[in-house]
Amino acid sequence: MPIPDSFLSDLRDRADVESLISSYVTLKRRGKTLTGLCPFHSEKTPSFTVYPDSNSFYCFGCGAGGDVITFVRRVENLDYVEAVKSLAQRYGLNMPEDGYDDTLSKKRGRLMAANREAAGFFHHTLMSEHGKPALDYLLGRGLSMATVKRFGLGYAPNDWSGLLEHMRQKGYSQSELLEANLVRKSSKSERETYYDNFRNRVMVPIIDPRGNVIAFGGRVLDDSKPKYINTSDTLIYKKSQGVFALNFAKNDIKDGRLILAEGYMDVIALHQAGFLNAVAGLGTALTREQTRLLSRYADEVVLAYDSDEAGQAAAQKAIGLFGEIGVKVRVLKFEGGKDPDEIIRKYGAERFQRLIDGAANDTEYKLLNERGKYDLTTDDGKVSFMRAAIAVLASLDSAVERDIYASRLSDEVSVGKDAILIQVNELRSKRRKQQERERSRFTAKSLPGFGEGLNPEKKRNLRAAAAEEKLLSNLLNNPGFYPKLADKVKAENFVTELNRRIYEVLEKRLSENRGVELEFLSGSFSPEEMGAVNKLLVSGSAFGKAASQGLANQGSLEECIDCINIMFKEKLKKEKVSPSEMSDEEFLRRIRDKNLL
Ligand code: UTP
Ligand code: MN
Repeated sequence: MPIPDSFLSDLRDRADVESLISSYVTLKRRGKTLTGLCPFHSEKTPSFTVYPDSNSFYCFGCGAGGDVITFVRRVENLDYVEAVKSLAQRYGLNMPEDGYDDTLSKKRGRLMAANREAAGFFHHTLMSEHGKPALDYLLGRGLSMATVKRFGLGYAPNDWSGLLEHMRQKGYSQSELLEANLVRKSSKSERETYYDNFRNRVMVPIIDPRGNVIAFGGRVLDDSKPKYINTSDTLIYKKSQGVFALNFAKNDIKDGRLILAEGYMDVIALHQAGFLNAVAGLGTALTREQTRLLSRYADEVVLAYDSDEAGQAAAQKAIGLFGEIGVKVRVLKFEGGKDPDEIIRKYGAERFQRLIDGAANDTEYKLLNERGKYDLTTDDGKVSFMRAAIAVLASLDSAVERDIYASRLSDEVSVGKDAILIQVNELRSKRRKQQERERSRFTAKSLPGFGEGLNPEKKRNLRAAAAEEKLLSNLLNNPGFYPKLADKVKAENFVTELNRRIYEVLEKRLSENRGVELEFLSGSFSPEEMGAVNKLLVSGSAFGKAASQGLANQGSLEECIDCINIMFKEKLKKEKVSPSEMSDEEFLRRIRDKNLL
């Protein structure tokens, strides 16, 4: 059952797109619209546009778009009903009690409750007789009881069904436990058997910023492999989007700064040592989703990656990713230990603090790195280093910073500062031009997965699809046209599937005299499809202007009829109906279209 229109109208009135999106993206006003860097793909020049008039957003770079509900679905990774609930809460609206389909959100709630229950079970086991080896292991690594409790650490017993039996008693079904990835299924024997996923491991619960237990990491007590087993992706957990300990760190961010380490144990050791702003990824290479999430909480990230080669390579990559979204980075380098946990255990918290205070910022780190590659006692080496260094300086957006580093470089390579700055600026303008060229190419094509990918028949039916889209765009912008078109076009006249579905939704609503604002539509489409719907809406809003300037018949009823004729013709062509099989009406329409061409 859909959410009632009356509620969605209230939501539309209250949840204004500008205030909502401003809390995630820095927006600049440009006339009637606002622009900013897209939160859904990586870009350096803003193509993300917010339309207060239609309470919607659209990214010309990646095709993401839609209403406020779609925005929340995407940015918070929620399903439709959850997104509506979250907006209702945020804007103080009472959500109608029932009458909508919330099976998915109920299921997610069950999985979260199951994870919480499991975390309690693991913790309880750790504190029991059975948990002694695991507790000894943790205390032996220097953790205090307080830390064990604060992180809710636990122990999964050395047994195939300890958790399973406990959870069954608490009323969770095997299939729920399987979906939560707490148990696994074996089909070796005739009968399906279920068994615990985590056995004889120290358990680290992963808690999201809202305080829900969403997953676990489980570590062996010795050197056996694999060292960690982690919850795989489930309905409530995406490894590539999660950040460990952000639930704690978000409340202790100092000077806009977070510490990002590689491992669970590093973060736990850091917190125990008083670095309450430490977090970690979850065992995968850092992703854009994670850097974006962190950028919501921090302006600067201190990378505390392992000192080995893999850790340093990961740091390089992280610098690039944070740079893309304007988060400052400092990089720690450890000596005498491989990771923060070791450094703190060996040398104490003060040493770690000194490392942070003295850490190279990303520019210094990059320059140091480049300098290490060349022999500065030779002319060749100097020139190569200078080239590389100029490329680093050119990527700095602040003129003051460029000036400072140009001075330092000038001392290092004994070349005048002005000469260096001239080269830096040349490179900057070259890059800018290249970026603009790329951007216009990008905008014209859009990313794969949007547009063509959503409506695969479009490629083979360009003319029909263009007519369909213009018609839909007109209907979205001028719902008043519908009564005059209703008997001229039907869903079956659409050639491409997505456009047909959009028409079906519009037709149903318009024939019942209901509005077609995006908030009423977003329950019927995926977030990606909503991008396509909003593209239709915003592309058409320029029509009014065109018409007022006397340009063609854009945005008029006549244009709609032209579109319908083209659609008929294209459909016939596609179905290869021979003229003898056509009705008189179709035949005439066809002749007329020919003349029109
Ligand atoms: P590390 O091997 O550095 O782990 O892997 P660690 O946290 O320092 O653990 P200790 O100190 O040896 O106990 C870093 C992170 O990579 C992921 C985990 O998230 C780990 O914290 N990882 C590592 C896995 O997911 N699986 C593995 O088998 C190993
Ligand atoms: Mn470690």
